[in-house]
This record gives sequence, structure tokens and C-alpha cells, in this order.
Amino acid sequence: MEVKHNESFGSGFLWGAATSSFQVEGAQKEDGKGLSVIDVMKKNPNITDFSVASDHYHRMEEDVALMAELGLKVYRFSIAWTRIFPEGNGEVNQKGVDFYNRLIDELIKQGIEPLVTIYHFDYPQGLVEQYGGWMSRESVDDYKNYAEFLFKTYGDRVKYWLTVNEQDHVVRIPSRLGLTGDDRYEQMRLGYQANHHMCVATAKTIELYHSMGLSGKIGPAVSYSMVHPATSAPEDVLASKDAMLIKHNYLLDLHCYGVYSKPFQKYLEDRQFTPKMEDGDLELMKQNPPTMIGVNYYFSETVQAFPVSEKYPLGYQKEALLAEAESGVFEVVKNEKLQATDWGWEIDPVGLRLTLRELHERYQLPIIITENGMGAYDKLEDDGSVKDDYRIAYLKEHIKQVKLALNDGVDVFGYCAWTFMDVVSGRNGMDKRYGFVYVNRENFDLKDMRRIKKNSFYWYQEVIQSNGEKL
Ligand code: BG6
Repeated sequence: MEVKHNESFGSGFLWGAATSSFQVEGAQKEDGKGLSVIDVMKKNPNITDFSVASDHYHRMEEDVALMAELGLKVYRFSIAWTRIFPEGNGEVNQKGVDFYNRLIDELIKQGIEPLVTIYHFDYPQGLVEQYGGWMSRESVDDYKNYAEFLFKTYGDRVKYWLTVNEQDHVVRIPSRLGLTGDDRYEQMRLGYQANHHMCVATAKTIELYHSMGLSGKIGPAVSYSMVHPATSAPEDVLASKDAMLIKHNYLLDLHCYGVYSKPFQKYLEDRQFTPKMEDGDLELMKQNPPTMIGVNYYFSETVQAFPVSEKYPLGYQKEALLAEAESGVFEVVKNEKLQATDWGWEIDPVGLRLTLRELHERYQLPIIITENGMGAYDKLEDDGSVKDDYRIAYLKEHIKQVKLALNDGVDVFGYCAWTFMDVVSGRNGMDKRYGFVYVNRENFDLKDMRRIKKNSFYWYQEVIQSNGEKL
């Protein structure tokens, strides 16, 4: 739909940027921090580990000053669970508590709203060792107790909380769950059990949040993006609908409505993936839906039908990291109409508008974009500049589509680019940079960690100053 009147972003629109604890902080074993599943993960020898990351733990004040110079209205960061509870439960680590108190105070001093992710991939290894982590029902109360501690400690200053980052990815990535071995089928089954426990934990935490009289917004940060049909063949359209269901919608259907939809139930049953549930679980979710949705959007996918065959029996999955094909459901194919990043992520700004529309129509909750950005090989020039004009182009086109979605009537109240500063990419180390601020280190050469403003920093500064008018 083309629009005649192009309204502006509202005056309180939250312009922001994001990071996550394990990707930015470093100080992996300092000041009493315990180990997370990320810290013990089998290393990819070609990329760096996360032990020093961007050294934000030691340079926090300098980094927040740069955020203020950029003009951020909101900063999304995550709390490392193992800095607060080194074992995931039990003893509190005061030094970890102090670090986030200082960070939050510093942000508020600079007029920047903190948006806190309670758990962003770095699950305590201690809980995996105690009882198998998310696969066990015991995980529910430990998550809730951890969240309760955060609400009591920081809830006077933090008004926006994200419960779990990209649960839809976590449950499909064995190392994020602390699973080892290579029985992929069993890992998938366990993933759906973990998924159910995370949903129950989220609902209990939201119930608790309200019962504590806290009145901010709380909800998950999901990875959610449109899945297009490769052609107008009805089989491909069905494949795209099914892929939307099993990649994305199943999760928000649980969070928002406490429902395993019938087609999703069938999908689980056919593969013997149905998780164990307790009476009252679904009612608990239904009674305690999120009050906002955080959405991480980078690219869209395009799929075609992928029938079950002798070669690809039911249950077959072609894995890159996340499924690229599932027999009987879909197969991801290249979209010839879209350009891709160096990592093959198809750039689709209109897909963001479609995504926001879809979320709005299905769930009718306020939305904040919690991640959107372009990973690229940036180059620090001899004159000290970083000319990341490709990133500016990417962000500009996506922000234009956010504005169009606002005009469509979608309640989007903020936009966080991924990332504020360069961080260690989940899978590609320092090769794949996303930040407005360059961090002077390579995968293995830590150099001087100097912070350098990229061209995109000055561009985003103007976007914020003009409240999105000057793109
Ligand atoms: C999201 C995560 O999946 O995508 C981030 O929430 C991650 O933690 C981001 O860094 C980009 O992914 P990658 O693999 O390019 O770092």
C-alpha cells in the first residue's frame, strides 16, 4: 500500500542501539563471574573467543559518554546472569551487581533509558551441571528468582525488560543449551522441552513483575522475519506459511495466547517432539502475556515446498546453523530480487515493514525493534576514518520502512540498531562488525582497543537529532 500522508516519528520515539553482555563486556572470569555455556563452548579456531570482547567492562564510562554524544535515547544491553549468580542460583556476587548499578546510573545521568535483556544466550553452565539446565523443570524457578533479584535491585530505574533473547534460536542451537554430542534428532526433541520451560519461566516472571507493582514494559526479544514463497505455486505459499509457523509464530502464539496451534501440535507429534507439560502451564501463559514485543530483524527468507521423499524422510533437516530445509515443510532458496551481505543474509527493508505488520496483526502489542543492522568487513583507513557507507544505506532503508509501518498504524515505539559499538559476532568474531563505533582490535591481535567513530556514527547522530526526518 502506498501512503499519501507520511507522518513523523512521535516525539517520545526511542532511538537506540544494542549490545549483549558476552559479546561486549570481556572480563570473562573477573570479579567473581561464573562460567556460562558460551564460555565453555567448543571454540571455532578460526575466530576469536569472547574472553576480552570489546573490553566494555573496563571502559564502561568512556562508552556511555560516546552513547551520549551519539544522542541515544535508549541503550539495550544484557545482564550476564553469571555475574549476578556465578552458579546460576545460590550466592549473589556483589561485584557483578555493582557493575550494572554503575552502568544504569551512568546511563540515566546521560538521559539514556536502559533497556535490559535478562538473558541473552549466556546461560549459566552451573545450572547445566546441576540438573541439565533448561531441559529440566527446575530451570523455571531459577530463572524467575534471578529475574526477581534484578527487578528488586534495578527495577526502580529500569522501565523496559526483555525476558529471553531469541528463544527461537536458542532451542535449535545445542551449544546454547549446553548440549554436547551429535544426536541431532534428540537435541531437537530436548530443544522443544527447553522451549516449553522457557515459556513457563517467562509467564511466571511476567506474573511476578506485575505482582511487584512494577509498571514498565516487559516481553521477549524474538528473531522474527518474513518468509516469502519462492513462486506463486500454492505449494510454495503453503511452505512459506508453515515455515513462518515453525520458525516464528509458534513461539509468540505460546507467549501471547498460551496456545500450541493445531498445525504446530501435529508437527511436533509427527516427529515425537511434543514436550512434557504440567496442568495449568498453558493457562498461566494465557493469563500473563507480554506487554511488548522486541523484534530482531536482519533479513528475510524465501522458501519453496520440500516434499518428503526416500532420500529426505520425515524429520530430515538440512542445517546450516538454523534449519535451511525440513522435509515435508520447506527449503530455503535464494531470492533473485534481493542483494545479500557478505554473509549471504538477504537485505530486505520492505520485509521489515511486512514483519511489523504481521506482528501487529497477530499480537496487537507495542513493538520495539531490538536489533537491526548490517554485519560487514569494515576497514580502518590510514586517516583514521571508517567509511561504512554500505551500513548507512542499509539502516536508512530499514528506518524508512519503520516509518511506513508507523503510518500503517503499527505501534512501534523504538528502534535499536545492532550494535552500538563493534562486538564479537556470535559466529564470525571481529571479522563481522556492526557498530557505529569501531573497536581497534582484530580476532587475535588485541591492539589498543581504541574507540573510533565511523561515518555511520555521524549519520545516526543526525537521524536522532532530527527525530528521523533527516535520513
Ligand atoms: C542475533 C543475536 O541473533 O543476531 C546477536 O541476538 C547476534 O547476539 C546478532 O550477534 C547477529 O548475528 P551474528 O552471527 O552476525 O553476530
